[in-house]
This record gives sequence, structure tokens and C-alpha cells, in this order.
Amino acid sequence: MYALAPVPGPLFGRNLLTVDALSAGELRSLLQLAVYLKARRPGEQASLLRGKTLAMFFEKPSLRTRVSFEVAMTQLGGSVVFAKGDEFSIGSRETPEDAARVLSRYADVIAIRTHAHEPLERFAAAASVPVINALSALAHPCQALADMLTLHERFGTLHGLRIAFLGDAQNNVAVSLAQAAVLSGASVQFGSPVSHRPSEATIAQLKALGKPHGGTARAFSNAVRAVRGADAIYTDVWTSMGEEAATERNRAVLSPFRVTEALCDHAAAHAVFMHCLPAHRGEEVTAGVIDGPRSIVFDQAENRMHAQKAVLAALLTDLKGFPV
Ligand code: CP
Ligand code: NVA
Repeated sequence: MYALAPVPGPLFGRNLLTVDALSAGELRSLLQLAVYLKARRPGEQASLLRGKTLAMFFEKPSLRTRVSFEVAMTQLGGSVVFAKGDEFSIGSRETPEDAARVLSRYADVIAIRTHAHEPLERFAAAASVPVINALSALAHPCQALADMLTLHERFGTLHGLRIAFLGDAQNNVAVSLAQAAVLSGASVQFGSPVSHRPSEATIAQLKALGKPHGGTARAFSNAVRAVRGADAIYTDVWTSMGEEAATERNRAVLSPFRVTEALCDHAAAHAVFMHCLPAHRGEEVTAGVIDGPRSIVFDQAENRMHAQKAVLAALLTDLKGFPV
């Protein structure tokens, strides 16, 4: 599947705000391009985005997303400008539309990390260059691409995999992961209390998205049932950025969904542990699991860079002149 060099795809000039805006074929070709770029030495890539500028504006903290985008763009020959916090809060000093029109005159591609998703949609609709969601309250598509790349490396396929997501199954990472999984023919088993379960509408949307590809989604309120037979167990922080007021309530209701060694014993013997990071040992996952032999969390973190190279290349070029 991933042995051939990529061909120019239909993503040139597009935005990447949510995974479900991609077709299964587009998702697959992005992953194919990521595999291809990961196998190339940085020197072979240095002309791909020469002269292009990525502008990044973050309302929330970041380690992985910021640095992996900066290194990705640099290795592809482009340059990066970055602003965060007080310098950029989407829609605060001016409308998202005005900011988008201005920034489109300076940069070739814009990556934004926001609280609410809706201003990001408005920004992207007004921008005349591609806009990438670098995490909003609703979605984290770049994380999901890296996660699919990591699972594909580990299992050689995505089709037919069973992925258990434990904890806050309504959050940005859970939603994007699940969309990418079902589009790839994998199945998702959410494990959460009812308060943190994806809505019926979300489950229905995932089922519809996955149906043509063999993927599906199901929600359990019992952690053991959610992980039973899973090939991968995934968790994320119990309280996402911007939702700190719910921290104590989340701790109280999510503790039965902590990923422990004993819980992992109910998954497939070969099951891997995944986490987007940052992690809180002793909260959503024990140190024994995240630092143990099942854990592939640092492969995920590395793959953020390779997946984002694919996104940048696909949105900004037709890949002509690329050394294939
Ligand atoms: N996983 C992830 O997005 O990490 P950062 O918040 O550090 O960017
Ligand atoms: N769900 C987490 C992901 C962090 C990468 C958050 O939004 O804070």
C-alpha cells in the first residue's frame, strides 16, 4: 500500500480543520506521503517548500505541535513565524475574517491553535491560503494523522484494527482519532462514564463515516469491556486545556477509566499503549503502562513531524519537482 511514491493529490490549496473533511482516499494519500517523506533524508527534502512561510498562532501552550511544525517546515526548506497568547487571540482585537485577510497577505500557510472551533472556521473561510487546525476544543487532526501513521508502522495495516479510547471520550483527540480510524477501516471502542461519552449523533456520524470502509464505533461505560480484544489502548488527559474548572469533577468520575497494567491484560496480548502527550502519570495512566513495553507514545510524538511534513507538502505544492 505505501511502497509507491506519492502522486499529486487533490489537497493542494485546501484547509485541514477536521479529519472528517478528508475522504478516505485523501487520508490514505496523506499517510502514504508521510511514510515516503519519513524514509527520505532531510537533504532530499530541502527544496520542496523553499521560499514558503508557515505562520503559526497559538492561543494555548504547546510543545510537540509547535516544535514539530517548525522542524518540519525548516527541513522542507521553508520558514516559520510564531506568535502566541496576548499577541494572537482569534477574534479578540479584530474579527477572525480581518485577521485572516491580513495574514493571508504575509504567509503561504497558517496553523492555528484555538479554544473555540467556530472562530477558526470563520478564519479559514476568509483566508486565501491553507489553514491548518493545530488543535481546537473540537478537533486535533494533526495528532490523528500521526496516530494512524504510528499504528500503520506497528501493525502494517489499519484496516480491521480495534482501538480502545479511555477517559474523556468527547475531547478533541478522541473525536479526531475516531474519525481517522473509521475512515481507515478500524473500529473504535470508547470507554467512559456516560457524562464523558460521545453523543449519539457523534457515534452515528462515526458509523456512517466508517461504513463504506469497514470501520465502526461503539461506546461502553465499563473500562474492561471497552479494552477487550483491543489492538491499541489510547488515553488523553482527563481535563483538556481551557476546561480547568472541571478538573476535580473529571478526576472523580474518570478514575475507573485509568489505564493500568491490570486493565491492559484484558486487551490483545500484543496491544500497544498510545497517548498524545502531555501525560499525567498516576492520573489517566500508570507509570508502569506509559513507561512500559507496550508504550509507543514517543513514536507517536516523532510521527507528528513526519505527518505534518506530508500536510504541508500536500496543501502547498503539487509535488512537481519532488525527487520521486
Ligand atoms: N500532543 C500535542 O498536541 O502536544 P502539544 O500540546 O505539546 O502540542
Ligand atoms: N485534549 C488535550 C490534548 C492536548 C494535546 C487538550 O486539548 O488539552
